[in-house]
This record gives sequence, structure tokens and C-alpha cells, in this order.
Amino acid sequence: GRKWTEVADLNEELKDQVVLIRGRAQTIRAVGKKMAFLVVREKGFTVQCVLTVTPDVVSGQMVKYAAALSKESIIDVEGVISVPKDPIKGASQQVEVQVRKLYCVSKAIPILPINIEDAARSDAEIEKAEQAGEKLVRVNQDTRLNNRFLDLRTPANQAIFRIQCQVGMLFRQFLLSEGCIEIHTPKLIPGSSEGGSAVFKLEYKGQPACLAQSPQLHKQMAICADFGRVFEIGPVFRAEDSFTHRHLCEFVGLDVEMEIKEHYSEVMDVVDRLFVSMFDSINQNCKKELDAIGRQYPFEPLKYLPKTLRLTFEEGIQILKEAGVEVDPLGDLNTETERKLGQLVFEKYGTEFYILHRYPLAVRPFYTMPCYDNPAYSNSFDVFIRGEEIISGAQRVHAPELLAQRAESCGIDVRTISTYIDSFRCGAPIHGGFGVGLERVVMLYCALNNVRKTSLFPRDPQRLAP
Ligand code: 4AD
Repeated sequence: GRKWTEVADLNEELKDQVVLIRGRAQTIRAVGKKMAFLVVREKGFTVQCVLTVTPDVVSGQMVKYAAALSKESIIDVEGVISVPKDPIKGASQQVEVQVRKLYCVSKAIPILPINIEDAARSDAEIEKAEQAGEKLVRVNQDTRLNNRFLDLRTPANQAIFRIQCQVGMLFRQFLLSEGCIEIHTPKLIPGSSEGGSAVFKLEYKGQPACLAQSPQLHKQMAICADFGRVFEIGPVFRAEDSFTHRHLCEFVGLDVEMEIKEHYSEVMDVVDRLFVSMFDSINQNCKKELDAIGRQYPFEPLKYLPKTLRLTFEEGIQILKEAGVEVDPLGDLNTETERKLGQLVFEKYGTEFYILHRYPLAVRPFYTMPCYDNPAYSNSFDVFIRGEEIISGAQRVHAPELLAQRAESCGIDVRTISTYIDSFRCGAPIHGGFGVGLERVVMLYCALNNVRKTSLFPRDPQRLAP
């Protein structure tokens, strides 16, 4: 086979060498009849390709053919790398390809629902161009999502999903190194796993059933089955009613469950080491991706401490109080107070990543362990990035009687989870764990404003397609 080079790898070291690339014709510009410029894009990286009529190499016919290509067509280009004196605008690679051969592999229709260049512009670029009198199309979110396969071709989107892949990979790598085993729990279950109304109901061979809102019940049963420490990466379903920037109806859950030897802080220790090492690794290894995202959606790198800050819920309430924000000391925080607290914590401790623990029991799910010293509180925690929740976790109730009682008082039909409760009757380990929303981690790490940006094909209360 012939040797192919990726556009991302084209650089000055290849000067005067012949390369063969495959990509999409992002822009096509003819200059008279003797020259044409193509910007070729592959996986979000772009290079300028130049056709100049040259006897025996490039004919006038070939320039005409290139100029008539439709945008987004897939083309093969063979040419010689040259290094222009001036920086190249409108392409990521700072070299040019002097084209010798050109072949169209797959033609795109002439008018596309989204112009990728328009879709890739930052707000600042759009404003600047508009001030200069240029006519630009602002691509709104619905148009993007309706044509997601095109929208995903922008450099920022290519980078977002590479980072998402890294988060999943680092999660798996870290937990395997901590002696966890990866499990796969069923998504079709008889009753709601988290309680509440946000559950998709369905019929399972004549029996009522639902889509799992989390692997909660089964990851705990895996602990009762002596696996010690388990994790799962898989889809979870929430029949959300609210249409917000951070709620999806299907998302990817990163879940952990583990035996606890002495204290629920052991679970928070895992969160701390897992996420600090994950952030370090992304910062070191995903510079290109972070830059690509920042070019379209400028953001400040996340500020976090080598050892993650832990505050109790009561300390959080106190910080809010000192800033004049009164909240119910035994109630939950709403999105607004969570954000406010995030700001205050940042001002006081210099971190945008922290753990808030010992939540009031009343605002936690039925399986949460009450505090031994004060049952109005619980051995539970949430974790925040830039003032928004990415994780919730806790020690679990492992005494079957208390568990049944807690489920009932939370309005759960105990019959639908009887096999779960029974699994605690044969000697249940002390245990706890946590659940992470993958899309939220990537959204907040990159300070993006909408969870739909970090979901490949988002499902929300108004969207089931594409
Ligand atoms: O807070 P949640 O509902 O907790 C659980 O599912 C527990 N079983 C976890 C545990 O092990 N105790 O969900 C966990 C995380 C949230 O912190 C959030 O990041 C994300 O999942 N999440 C959502 N992400 C997108 N859309 C939604 N509708 C989400 N609901 C929760």
C-alpha cells in the first residue's frame, strides 16, 4: 500500500517531501484559471493545498476540476510540502501542499445544512466579522444537533470527544490499578433504582419494568457477592422533566462501589486521587485538544489543589451565611446556591474542584447511610467543578431492616427491590461508592455552557433524534 500522512502530522520537517493525504475540501478558491487553493481538513486539522498550472504536472483542466469540487467532499491529495514565509491564516498546519495529483473519493451535495467554517467560529470571531461588514451565518444549537454528524466535524467538537475518551480511559486505568474489577449491570430492571419520578417505564414480557437510572442496586449487590471493589462505565436513563443546560435523559455513568474498612472518607480518598491524576494527565497529554476547544469556546484552565479540599455541608452553609446567603441548614442546595458556594470557596481556598460531605439525610436517596453521631446528617458527599455537581456518593445502608424501612419512608415499593434487599441478609460488607456523569465532567472541565455539547447524540426531554 501507499504511505499516507495525517494532516495533523504535516510539519516543516517534511519540507520538499512528497506526501499523500485524505481529507475533506473545507474551502475552495480559484484565482484566475491558473491557480486554486483548497483547505483540506482531517479530524479537525487543516492544511492549505495549492494548485498551480505547471507543464506535465498540473493542467488547466485539473485546476478547473479542483475549483468545481463541492465543499466537504472527500479528496486524496498528493503533493510536495513547502514552507511559506508568512504565517498561514485559516489552516492549523503551518506548511502548504503543492498539489501534483488530486482525486475525489466521495462527493458531497453542493449545499450543506451547516457550513463547517461557520459552525467552527467563536463568538468573538463572529462579532469581529460582523463589525467588518461580513455576512455570517450563526449556527444555532438546534440546527447543530439536527445535523449533528456535520456539527461534529468542527475542530472543537473533534477535541471534545477525544477528551471524553481520555476521561473514560483514565477512569478505567486508575480503578484497575486500585484493584477494582469492571462490571456490566443490567439496564432493564423491575423497579426504579434511585426513587423519584424520573424513570422510563416499559413493559417487559407482560411485567412492569424500567430503564436503570443508575447501576446503584446491582453494583451494591456485586459488593455483596465479594468482588471487593467494582466499577462500571455505561448508559443511565433519567426521564427528566426539566429542560436545563445540564440534564440529559440518557448519559454515561461512571460508577464505583467499594468495601469500606473504617470510614466513608476512604471513598472520598479514591475520588481525590482519581480526579487529581485525571486532571494532571489531561493537562499534560491533551494540549492540542484543549487548545482546539479554547479557540472556539475560550476558557480558563481548571484550578484544583494537589489534595482535594473537603468541606462539610455545615461548613458550606456557614460560608454562604457569612456572604449573606441564607439557606435551609437541613435542605438541599439549588443550582444557584451551589454556584454561589463554588465562587465563595474559590475566593477562600483557590480551588474550583472540591468535595462537600455530610449532607442532610432528608435530601439523599434511601440507600444512604445516616451519620452514626447524628442521623439528621448522612455519610454522603457531592463533588463540584466550577460550582456545579459532577459526582454524588455515599456510604450505603448495609443492614437489610433499616434499608427496607428507609426505602418505604422514601415512597419506594419495596416489592420491586426485594431481591436487592435480600442480598444484604447473608452478611453484607460495609461499603460505599459514587457515580459520575461523564458529559458533566467534560462540560465543566472545559467550562462549556451546555451538556449537549459533550454528548455525542444528546437525548433530552425534547430530543430523541438523530
Ligand atoms: O446524583 P446521581 O443521581 O447519583 C446516582 O445516580 C447515585 N447512584 C450515585 C452513587 O453512587 N451514589 O447521579 C450521579 C451523577 C451526578 O453527579 C451528575 O454528574 C450525573 O450523574 N447526572 C446527570 N448528568 C446528565 N444528565 C442528568 N440528567 C444527570 N443526572 C445526574
